[in-house]
Amino acid sequence: MAYERTLDLNSDAFRGEAYRHYAALRQASPVFFSQPEGQLPMWYVTGAREVEEVLLDNERFARDPSRINPQFAAMLGGEQSIAFLNEHMLNRDGERHRRLRRLVNKAFTLKAVNAMRPRVEQIAESLLDAVQAGGHMDVASQYAFPLSITVIAELLGVPARDHGDFRRWSHMIVRQVGHDLSELQRCYSEFADYMLALIDQRRAHPVDDLVSALAQVEEEGSMLSRSELCSMIALLIIAGHETSASMIGNAVHTLLQHPEALIRLRDEPALMADAVEEFLRYDSSVERAMVRFVTRDTELSGQRLQRGQLIVAVVGSANRDETLCANADTLDITRPACPHMSFGKGAHYCLGASLARQELEIALNTLLRRCPRLRLAVDPGAIRWRYVPNFRGPDALPVCWSVD
Ligand code: HEM
Repeated sequence: MAYERTLDLNSDAFRGEAYRHYAALRQASPVFFSQPEGQLPMWYVTGAREVEEVLLDNERFARDPSRINPQFAAMLGGEQSIAFLNEHMLNRDGERHRRLRRLVNKAFTLKAVNAMRPRVEQIAESLLDAVQAGGHMDVASQYAFPLSITVIAELLGVPARDHGDFRRWSHMIVRQVGHDLSELQRCYSEFADYMLALIDQRRAHPVDDLVSALAQVEEEGSMLSRSELCSMIALLIIAGHETSASMIGNAVHTLLQHPEALIRLRDEPALMADAVEEFLRYDSSVERAMVRFVTRDTELSGQRLQRGQLIVAVVGSANRDETLCANADTLDITRPACPHMSFGKGAHYCLGASLARQELEIALNTLLRRCPRLRLAVDPGAIRWRYVPNFRGPDALPVCWSVD
């Protein structure tokens, strides 16, 4: 169908009405091929059953491009000197993936995440201390982003004076679009140099932080190499910062469009832990999982896929599939938990899910408690969605509240 072949899922027009498009696509063709001008040809998967099939089958749908073609992998890896930054678990399959994940699991424990709770609460309070009397702020830049970068940076053990640099590097790496290649390479190099120095320092003088713990984890004689460790930390920072920050923005945006839910949660904050699952399902900050590579000629939902082609599972669409959740387009903060795929499925299921849930719950409860009569400070139509492939979140979310 011509409509699908040229559909640009990254355009502002699409993003503004993404869920309406996805509903039509799930009906007409849950698996479709698209090649808009100037972009790589790609299969997109929008039906819940098909999305699950792609995410669970790492044999047919690989994350590691070297399983298709080593040259292709090198090309995607970028400049040789910094290519090792891509050696992380999200780019690996099978035993290579399991080894990296097991090692980081030993350091990134639920206990460590739970221990962060009082500090996350403190960070949220102090960000609001700075703006509360003024009665307005941009949720994205003044609350969500500083909150999530501070949490992940402190968990890793990055000194506060360097958080600004982290934010700059992370943004540029995630938002590659719009930056020239030399600027990007400089940013990657600065990021890598900084990490390697921090790792060396923590190896020599371990303290109670995640970088020190990761530098020491060992399994049957296997430790993370210096470059694996650097790549792992880069993944944790980027995956753990942009996603959580955008998710806070999406949830606040959703609440502002559903004032009855906002009032209920403000009055009954204990409901927030369950409501967070509904916010994640309703408007996930990871709209699409990372691209997979088709490892052999195969069929998916009646479509013939060829070895080497690229395929993307649209989890944001799967979350709105009626076969997964009744009345999926309706936000219902008290519904019995509906399964969602916002944290992915299978081998690459989000490692930071419990941290993300905790941040979201604290960020929303603190905001509703501290900012009475919270409302959008601009026309809803003026909200722009960030141009970052795979992720979804408001670029800016100006809000205001009553100041007594
Ligand atoms: C609301 C916030 C978040 C969302 C929606 C989210 C979503 C996801 C999704 C969908 C995946 C799988 C991607 C794929 O299969 O292509 C993933 C993987 C991952 N996430 Fe998250 N994430 C969030 C927060 C975090 C945080 C806070 C951290 C870490 C501190 C984190 C670390 C990771 C890592 C390391 C992986 C790779 C796991 C693997 O390859 O085995 N994420 N995340």
